[in-house]
Amino acid sequence: MTNSATQVETNGRLVSRSNPIGLPDEYTEQSLPVLDVHVSSMFVLFHQYQKHHWLVFGPQFRDLHLYLEEAYTQIHEDLDALAERMTVLGGIPTSSPSRQIELSLFKHEDEGEKPVREMLKADLKAEQLVLRHLRDTIAMVSENGDFGTEKLLKGILYNSEDRAHHLEHYLEKNTLPPASA
Ligand SMILES: [Fe+2]
Repeated sequence: MTNSATQVETNGRLVSRSNPIGLPDEYTEQSLPVLDVHVSSMFVLFHQYQKHHWLVFGPQFRDLHLYLEEAYTQIHEDLDALAERMTVLGGIPTSSPSRQIELSLFKHEDEGEKPVREMLKADLKAEQLVLRHLRDTIAMVSENGDFGTEKLLKGILYNSEDRAHHLEHYLEKNTLPPASA
């Protein structure tokens, strides 16, 4: 962002009125808050995956422990790329953890241990919610000719779908004890 850019407060976030890639201000003012919600949601999911990486236990401990690390590493790389894309569009991504929690599409689960199946179900539910919103956002950025953001979001969508697929496999019957066990 250049020093000459005018900043306006949009729903608690600072949004520049100019960007170096020629996208209309009306579009970036509409899309930046939406992208900010995605970055915030992904940060919350990053923390949830990391918690599960720490607390997972049972016969599949090692595999799940490593897989959950892959998941939080991937989602952190993706949210970082999206936040940086926001700066290309002339925006300032929300960076405060407390504000990210407010903006997130879902709440981080409560503190403390959970049955492994419950942890993975919470991750899958969060991924599915993020996916539904991502598809709407991809349609919106595409309709506005923001093909760079579209390309980035499609990669993020693909990774999220892949994690959802993995989680569903881990949650197959007879692989983990039920939550009540
Ligand atoms: Fe670790």
